[in-house]
Amino acid sequence: MIQVAHVSKQFKDKKQVIKAVDYVSLQIRKGHVTGLIGENGAGKTTLLRMLCTLIEPDEGTISIDGENIFHHKEKVRRRLGVLFGSETGLYNRLTAKENLEYFGNLYGMTQHDIKNRIETLAKRFGMRKYMDRKVEGFSKGMKQKVAIARTLIHDPDIILFDEPTTGLDITSSNIFREFIYQFKSAGKTIVFSTHIMDEIAHLCEDVIMMHKGQIVYEGGLEELYEAENSRDLNYLFTSKVVRGDLYV
Ligand SMILES: Nc1ncnc2c1ncn2[C@@H]1O[C@H](COP(=O)(O)OP(=O)(O)O)[C@@H](O)[C@H]1O
Ligand SMILES: [Mg+2]
Repeated sequence: MIQVAHVSKQFKDKKQVIKAVDYVSLQIRKGHVTGLIGENGAGKTTLLRMLCTLIEPDEGTISIDGENIFHHKEKVRRRLGVLFGSETGLYNRLTAKENLEYFGNLYGMTQHDIKNRIETLAKRFGMRKYMDRKVEGFSKGMKQKVAIARTLIHDPDIILFDEPTTGLDITSSNIFREFIYQFKSAGKTIVFSTHIMDEIAHLCEDVIMMHKGQIVYEGGLEELYEAENSRDLNYLFTSKVVRGDLYV
């Protein structure tokens, strides 16, 4: 379980102060797929960057299984698989395999473990044929596959993806969806941000709705549908924003 308690993060931009995340509290349930949804500038990326220990909050705490993540950064990072947007973080001049080896080494894995893990991932993602080819010639979808494999090289139990399908074509988006099903059946905890309501409806058990740095809903999708007597996520999101519902 990931617990976010009273977390804020602000940025100063040309004398103006932006409250990117504004006194947010929420829970991310173990083994669940949680969707993070909100308009551009809602604070999704900032929240995810804090969850993966890249930036520290100005106030509040974030803990995983009761431990403050900023007191155990290295330990936490070994448990996390993180992918930010369209930045695949891959080296074009290296082959798919070399990329995966590189990241395995970064995590301090043994050569034996790296080899086994690459074989498992290549098989699972249907990319054995591509492993010895340079990434530069890959299609966007193929690159995304390798990027996802990269985030899983150390077999993390928590996976954080920021807008993983933005800019992808339908085939690549479907590949991503397929991955989510696989992770889910492997019992992983997954959080991903998106602005596509359909992805939330199809893939998630839980949803975090953000608006202007604040949470307008966080919890189970079914509970939300029942409480509001509607299954139309677009409508539900808009009405929460308009009503100014706040979860604090
Ligand atoms: N490093 C930064 N410096 C200044 N402002 C930032 C920075 N990162 C984010 N912001 C601002 O914080 C707000 C939230 O941004 P972000 O977390 O990227 O939202 P989202 O991912 O939901 O689009 C936006 O107004 C954005 O411009
Ligand atoms: Mg973002």
